[in-house]
Amino acid sequence: VFAAVVQAPEDPILGVTVAYNKDPSPVKVNLGVGAYRTEEGKPLVLNVVRRAEQLLVNDRSRVKEYLPITGLADFNKLSAKLIFGSDSPAIRENRVTTAQCLSGTGSLRVGAEFLAKHYHERTIYIPSPTWGNHTKVFALAGLSVKTYRYYDPATRGLNFQGLLEDLASAPSGAIVLLHACAHNPTGVDPTLDQWEQIRQLMRSKGLLPFFDSAYQGFASGSLDADAQSVRMFVADGGECLAAQSYAKNMGLYGERVGALSIVCRSADVAVKVESQLKLVIRPMYSNPPIHGASIVATILKDSDMYNEWTIELKAMADRIISMRHQLFDALRTRGTPGDWSHIIKQIGMFTFTGLNKEQVAFMTKEYHIYMTSDGRISMAGLSSRTVPHLVEAIHAAVTG
Ligand code: LMR
Repeated sequence: VFAAVVQAPEDPILGVTVAYNKDPSPVKVNLGVGAYRTEEGKPLVLNVVRRAEQLLVNDRSRVKEYLPITGLADFNKLSAKLIFGSDSPAIRENRVTTAQCLSGTGSLRVGAEFLAKHYHERTIYIPSPTWGNHTKVFALAGLSVKTYRYYDPATRGLNFQGLLEDLASAPSGAIVLLHACAHNPTGVDPTLDQWEQIRQLMRSKGLLPFFDSAYQGFASGSLDADAQSVRMFVADGGECLAAQSYAKNMGLYGERVGALSIVCRSADVAVKVESQLKLVIRPMYSNPPIHGASIVATILKDSDMYNEWTIELKAMADRIISMRHQLFDALRTRGTPGDWSHIIKQIGMFTFTGLNKEQVAFMTKEYHIYMTSDGRISMAGLSSRTVPHLVEAIHAAVTG
């Protein structure tokens, strides 16, 4: 009965890992998926995560009962504080409702389903380019997806004028997806001054901000600095949505732990919104898994563990920054044609190299370097050991 099912293509990002795994070459490097690797090229479990897990295992009072539909209450409170700030008036005034969801993707999807059912404007504007999964998450929830200009290939920076023009001509009330920090795939973020202009324009037009915060702590190494954009929008008293992921900043990729927060105008509205979120979640996956959220809550509520986390997080962010410098210096030393300064200007996990599809295919075929076809490389997957090989591949691709 399924004979007519056609073969689907691999996912543009996760499919890169599938291809990498099949390659027997000893020199292969996976710079596709945004997943942190050590200098030795190994996945990293944070020490603080191991400590938290140990505490959880030793606590015999812990059981495996279902969580409530919106997840672990402690986790939700602490997650809202982490992104909005511990002194956030919106939290104090009980105007925020938070639901533990399946990492960033699940949080975006629950938010999208909620908006499709309960928000009057069905159009969402996403940046061009953006994370490959955004279009599908929002379209499959029933929203109409449009793009706003974001990246300027000529400057390899932000097309701020284009962004303002596109948001200015969006229908009033439209939803706008914003990357809270460390824009994926470009590594290009607005400055604080530009964020303020975006905020004013969006509020004057009644556009609804939906933040995707997948890299808090990874852009600058500071959890507070990386949440500034979100906090600016919350400080003005208006509504917004925020999807948080702990995949990268706590290295909890496979635990699928994240949160959706909806900031409302009043506590009364927040209660009703929460009741509807439950109706969205229950038929999708009933309630979220307990383990990852328990790890996060254990770390966030203990000041000693929280400090250890920030130190480990900063070390990951610093290693990525040092990789940027090593790659940039090595390309310069090699005399590879082109201005590679964007490698050190862009921030977060990725560099948007400017390499085209054909060059990427060449590097994969000839050098076993795996990356997404848009020319994005995960700096987190690079190490001092693999920089020379990558430089040879880039050099050959641009001079060949
Ligand atoms: C990425 O962009 O590589 C990550 O966000 C992983 C993913 O789920 O695509």
